[in-house]
Amino acid sequence: MVSNPVHGQISALAALISDATKIVEAHFSASSKPLVPSLEDASEHPVDQELDSELRNAIQIIEGACAQLSATVARPSHTIVNKLMGFYEPACLGIVLTFKIPDILEEKPAGMHISEIAKKTGLEERKIGRILRLLATKHVFTEVSENVFANNRLSIQLLSDNHISSLGGHFTEECIRSTCFLAEVLGDKEWGPSYSAAQTAFNKWSKQDGTMFAFIENTPEGRKLGARFGTGMMGWGTACQGHDVVHEFPWEELGDGATVCDLGGGVGNITLQLAKTYPTLQLKLQDLPETIKRAENQVWPEKCPEAIQEKRIVFKSIDFFKETPIAGCNVYFLKNIIHDWPADDCIKILSNVRKVMEPHSRILLHEYILQDACRVPDEQTAFKQAPAPLLPNYGAGRIRQYNLDLNMMTMLNSEERGLPDFIRLGAAAGLRFVKLWDLGETGVVEFQLP
Ligand SMILES: C[S@@+](CC[C@H](N)C(=O)[O-])C[C@H]1O[C@@H](n2cnc3c(N)ncnc32)[C@H](O)[C@@H]1O
Repeated sequence: MVSNPVHGQISALAALISDATKIVEAHFSASSKPLVPSLEDASEHPVDQELDSELRNAIQIIEGACAQLSATVARPSHTIVNKLMGFYEPACLGIVLTFKIPDILEEKPAGMHISEIAKKTGLEERKIGRILRLLATKHVFTEVSENVFANNRLSIQLLSDNHISSLGGHFTEECIRSTCFLAEVLGDKEWGPSYSAAQTAFNKWSKQDGTMFAFIENTPEGRKLGARFGTGMMGWGTACQGHDVVHEFPWEELGDGATVCDLGGGVGNITLQLAKTYPTLQLKLQDLPETIKRAENQVWPEKCPEAIQEKRIVFKSIDFFKETPIAGCNVYFLKNIIHDWPADDCIKILSNVRKVMEPHSRILLHEYILQDACRVPDEQTAFKQAPAPLLPNYGAGRIRQYNLDLNMMTMLNSEERGLPDFIRLGAAAGLRFVKLWDLGETGVVEFQLP
């Protein structure tokens, strides 16, 4: 904790913000477009794609310290009531996605009056104005003059050709609706203590007996949602900079012709990027049959036809609970798979991989590695803790992993895990923990045969 009795926490947090801001400004100044864009600027900035760890850390400090400073100085009743009413923000985001308002606003970059938005959407004019005003107050859209709204730096992320719009549909429809049942499920005598993937708030809302993935795979309604979910996962990868792993893991050191199996790889989110960045890798994409069909027939012919022509990619469907993946690969890469399942199921998946591993094989689990919100001695943590008095896990700066943890509880009865949990799961499947690759937001846990 801060020991300075004069300035206390407020000054210490303000100093963290001030120092981190200088780092961010320096990165923008050094870029090809050397200006920090205003929120009104409805275009991408080259720095938005930067993967630099110093920049990411500075931004996490700013986000965390600003939220902690506000929570420290504001009246507690004010802050807590604002938190209680926070659900209107995703509700409004869901509405603008449903009616494709960001796309409509693209027709008039200088701003469109709500009467025109109403005509194009069929919505009541003043009501849509109120929804857009709440969002503009949260920095999504700009109200350029009374009742005239324009896209801005944040709302362009919701355009329908951006994969984040599909992710938004998933969160603001099936996830929000399921979450409304979470308290009821937690209090249920049988379902509350259960870790079955089919006894969840999602099951209560959807009235489905099987898991969310069985619903997606086996029903026509589910397949539609599944297609959107698959696309949404690519948006998720962008938001979390999940493609860090493409640049921060030394894939080139695996050698020419090394084989990488992306197990549960969806339609090929990371594999597509590996195919483009490392043309000497031999890639295998494995997932459930419907997803593999979509990958092979739609996504790859459009996004990376060269990998198909050059026979650098193999598509093979799998049920990773019942079957083993393609044998003898150098790398079995599982991104956001283990977090989908309760421990026993994870051990089954990892054991099936272990059966086909050879001494040169390794498993890479790419996940959030949860940190506690309390400070511990540095030598007891695998992650670098944030500077005090900021919460050691960066608070709001790294909130997404805790949101995702609750999303997993709601939809699949699964969880985000800490490093000791991953090591235990690996050991139970007969695997040896090798190292944690700290990618700043996410991490990669590496295992080999004992
Ligand atoms: C959260 S998504 C992760 C997708 C991808 N790894 C990524 O990060 O973009 C989980 C994936 O597991 C797949 N999956 C679920 N159950 C499966 C099973 N029994 N066998 C194989 N894949 C499965 C889903 O189809 C989905 O693509």
